[in-house]
Amino acid sequence: QSPSDNIEDKLLKVCQLLDAEIEYYNWTGFYFRNGDKEELVLGPFVGAATDHTVIPFGKGICGQVAVSNETFVVPDVNEQSNYLSCSIDTKAEIVVPIIKDGKNIGQIDIDSHTHNPFTDEDKALLEWLCEEVAKIM
Ligand code: SME
Repeated sequence: QSPSDNIEDKLLKVCQLLDAEIEYYNWTGFYFRNGDKEELVLGPFVGAATDHTVIPFGKGICGQVAVSNETFVVPDVNEQSNYLSCSIDTKAEIVVPIIKDGKNIGQIDIDSHTHNPFTDEDKALLEWLCEEVAKIM
């Protein structure tokens, strides 16, 4: 097993754990920057298959976080004009950047079927998690 397989395994387990433990997390996945290109590529995830396996910087919630380097909490996706829909069931979304050595290398993305579910605790948990993920990347 190569080291990169090992990281993929760990990230998938993180997705599985979050998906199992938090009932309003209905799609949980990672996107990572594709080398030096200004695009994100889908990594390990749990949830329905998505058409958005490659996302240009600036597009959708994920693409905006790739540029802003800030957590983006969306209580109601229907109020966002720059949004990429993966499922008609998704009502809310949170995207948290993964910053390694000052660079935005990717993000965790969580969709919810519940309207406005994400609290400051979710934000704190996921920001902590992304700091931990940065350490193993
Ligand atoms: N909704 C995201 C796209 C990714 S899917 O949620 C998995 C966005 O607007 O960037």
